[in-house]
Amino acid sequence: MRIEKASEIGFCTGVRRAINMIEKAAGELGPLQTLGPVVHNQQVVDKLAERGVTVADSLDQLKRGILCISSHGVGPQVIAEAEARGIRIIDTTCPFVRRAQVAAKKLAASGFSVVVFGDRNHREVQGLLGYAGEKGLATKKVPAFKKLSPRVGILSQTTQRFTAFEEFVSSFIHTHLEDLSELRVVNTICDATRKHQEAALELARRSDMMLVVGSRSSANTKRLVELCSDVVKTHHIETAREIAPSWFSGKVGLVGITAGASTPDEVIDEVISVLNGLR
Ligand code: F3S
Repeated sequence: MRIEKASEIGFCTGVRRAINMIEKAAGELGPLQTLGPVVHNQQVVDKLAERGVTVADSLDQLKRGILCISSHGVGPQVIAEAEARGIRIIDTTCPFVRRAQVAAKKLAASGFSVVVFGDRNHREVQGLLGYAGEKGLATKKVPAFKKLSPRVGILSQTTQRFTAFEEFVSSFIHTHLEDLSELRVVNTICDATRKHQEAALELARRSDMMLVVGSRSSANTKRLVELCSDVVKTHHIETAREIAPSWFSGKVGLVGITAGASTPDEVIDEVISVLNGLR
């Protein structure tokens, strides 16, 4: 059995940046709280907790007047409320998410209905909807025209699959173009997501099995699982403990490894070390 890592794997620039900012702030200011987990990965959250960084679910739960906004960002309402309460803000919103927020805000301000292609319960999408105004909606299915105004702007959750976004836009045009006076599409899928997905797919096509390492609540990890599963037998694991030796009992030549953008290097290294022990 051979083992190969995808050429783009693990922490993206946005996650690395957010963790560095929070660690620096915790070093300078003492114990801090993030609004929701800083990234969707328990190992990262646990490691930050050792440095005094814990998670608050709402502004009411803040123990000190300092708030860390995670890489997923928040809506403007949360910022306004925090500022009104005199809370100091450390904003680690990923620049790619910020770009999507700005696009949503500009479209809404110009009178467009903003359609966000994504999971409406995901924190990033909730934040985007905050900028998308009253006519904003998040969906993965083409919405009915009665929910839209004649001018529509479409953008994507940053971690969606590009091909899925492309299909959504095509289907939207096919269904509604005749009724619209204007349609704008902003490709807000982040560069790291695109590179991760391309590298995972390239490896999956050459592998007999793929292991995708990352949290089950991580959107970009789930996309990698979907993508690889379309090509080859794929297992989604959070840590090396979930590896079952029986997966490798048949003829498995090449095992490909990829990992979500919030999966730390140590977790990936441990998976490789367990696989090496099974060879
Ligand atoms: Fe940012 Fe993309 Fe990572 S949106 S947090 S660089 S997956």
